Amino acid sequence: MSGPVHCVVDDGVALVTIDNPPVNVTSQAVRQGLQRALDQAEAAGAGRVVLTGAGKTFIAGADAREFAAAPVEPHLPDIIRRIEAFPVPVVAAINGAALGGGLEVALACRARIAAPGATLGLPEVTLGIVPGAGGTQRLPRLVGLEAALSLIGEGRIINAHEAEDIGLMDAIAADPVTVARTFPIPDRPATGALPAPPPDPAGVEAARKQAGKRSPGQIAPLKAIDLVDASTRQSLDAGLALERETFLTLKTSDQAAALRHVFFAERAAMAQGKGGGTDIGSAVVVGGGTMGAGIAYALAGLGIAVALVESDAAGVGRARANVARLYADAVKRGKTTAGAAEAEQATRFSFHEGYGALPPADLAIEAVFEDMGVKREVFTALDAALPESTILATNTSYLDVNRIAEAVRRPERFLGLHFFSPAHVMKLLEVIRARTTSAETLATALRLAARLKKIPILAGVCDGFIGNRILTRYRQTCDIMLMEGALPAQVDRALRGFGMAMGPYEVQDLSGLDIAYANRKRLGWRTKDGFRYIPIADRVVEETGRLGRKTGAGWYDYDGGKASPSTLIDRIVVEEAVRAGIARRAFSDEEIVARAISSMVEEGFRILEEGIAARAADIDLVMIHGYAFPRWRGGPMHHAGRVGLSEIVRRIEAFAVEDPLSWGVPELLRRAAQEGLSPDDLKASQ
Ligand code: NAI
Repeated sequence: MSGPVHCVVDDGVALVTIDNPPVNVTSQAVRQGLQRALDQAEAAGAGRVVLTGAGKTFIAGADAREFAAAPVEPHLPDIIRRIEAFPVPVVAAINGAALGGGLEVALACRARIAAPGATLGLPEVTLGIVPGAGGTQRLPRLVGLEAALSLIGEGRIINAHEAEDIGLMDAIAADPVTVARTFPIPDRPATGALPAPPPDPAGVEAARKQAGKRSPGQIAPLKAIDLVDASTRQSLDAGLALERETFLTLKTSDQAAALRHVFFAERAAMAQGKGGGTDIGSAVVVGGGTMGAGIAYALAGLGIAVALVESDAAGVGRARANVARLYADAVKRGKTTAGAAEAEQATRFSFHEGYGALPPADLAIEAVFEDMGVKREVFTALDAALPESTILATNTSYLDVNRIAEAVRRPERFLGLHFFSPAHVMKLLEVIRARTTSAETLATALRLAARLKKIPILAGVCDGFIGNRILTRYRQTCDIMLMEGALPAQVDRALRGFGMAMGPYEVQDLSGLDIAYANRKRLGWRTKDGFRYIPIADRVVEETGRLGRKTGAGWYDYDGGKASPSTLIDRIVVEEAVRAGIARRAFSDEEIVARAISSMVEEGFRILEEGIAARAADIDLVMIHGYAFPRWRGGPMHHAGRVGLSEIVRRIEAFAVEDPLSWGVPELLRRAAQEGLSPDDLKASQ
């Protein structure tokens, strides 16, 4: 039989194999193929059907490309019902990942045998939907309410052993197909005919609370929990009908569209690492502070030999301690053993005071103080100490990468690798292309990013690149609102309400007010022409010494870690407004959000217009992964499309009337609004 599903009947067993590379999604052709294979098994009088996948997956869910469209027949729930009611037992031989619709197919089988490396889950909520083919009704009947709430409500993916422990798998076997041919069918009714678990209002309430904390603002996890709860109170048929209805409603929701957009954008970003370049086998990291130690640790985890450089013995001591702390943490969290951690530090790391005894390396990354002079000195030294072929990279957050590149004699092998803190955890990596960086150098950097499992975003050179440039603008907009009538706690609350993980002032208290202060100084804001300078933050730093949580006070007062608004800060805010002759007025939360987010969008369009970012979707990824912009809103650019670009233009024009120094409609935004373009599709060249 041609097509993506094959059926071979042998010795009374029909072996049905789904072969739809790369990951066996349940596309329409697969669904049709399954129907035909079942027909064939029935016609041949097989005594059992074994269902498996070709390659490394069983079935990795639905075809995400079909998500946005109306469902086409045959529908998966109907096929699943047929499998469950099939006249002879259907056994799932789960050779690899069984996710989403894949696990729902397996749930309807009479037995499930998993390969040891199989992964299982119903991750629909992470795409803004709920399982739509019986998962929310069959899983609780099979594994109980608690396990079902956690798997479906969180979209958690588990391994075969955990699945066996909760009763989701009947056995684990190296060759699940062979075992499935003769595996004794468990003495229990079909999954859908199992008794529903008893209701547990307290357990359901706890799951709802957890979901609210984990994914504030998101609808799908709560709906999924409701459906699992419904399985305890309704018949299978009523539960399935409710599930289907919820699934179809959520599929076309704004949140699902946003989460799909992010999913595809991530996939595209991560695929960049597959296009050439060479593998890094050895590296030098200069500066073993917060960032340098994290970067070195991440590289060593890939088996890369790392030479860590500090300028004096005390620095080397601190760097050693920083690295040891990261390993100790990994041991504590059960990620490695004490023995393995010790061995890795001993074999993969060398520590150096200066550049005299550096081994040759494929890549050198600098993470010293954020100072142009210091950085240029470091690169002059690296340039002299390392072979011509070594790629040199700076982890600077803001500084002009083109100017740093001038310090080296190999500018084509120079670039920025802007990691985010903590560098071994955060998935985002801005890859900064200097004027001189060669395509080969970029390809090698992207290849390394893929090995590090990072999401690499290519960016051109400007102050702060993509993320910190937007952050700077966003904070400036919030500071202006303080001048005009808002207070820090209100701004934070409003933006948290929008879905930001933290408000801008809370974040500054966490990271330290001194960093932004130094940055404003470097940019010369106080005396800059054509710029609306807001003195509040500088006054807080200079007059009060309140630098955030680390000094026990910042934008907020802290009492044993608990933040409360500060009367001192409020007084400074009001004094500065009076000094500037501004009549303060009330701001609604809605107005705060509209202004703050519009400023992100305006800056985003400028970044795109200048070619700093290649795609609008890249800007979305940077803000989601580096700055806790709510994923379910799809990032600022996608969100702007949902609000409507014409509406964004109208808002910016209105803000510009009040404050022409701060606002203006970028040409690209105006054109996109006029032509009805979607920001998701905008590329730098348009
Ligand atoms: P840090 O102060 O924790 O570490 C800097 C380290 O560099 C110190 O251990 C210091 O002894 C060493 N160092 C200074 N001058 C040196 C020299 N000439 N030669 C060798 N070692 C030298 O600073 P952090 O936070 O690790 O930042 C380092 C760089 O990373 C900065 O450029 C910063 O902008 C950038 N960055 C920082 C992020 C953060 O969140 N902290 C995020 C992304 C980038």
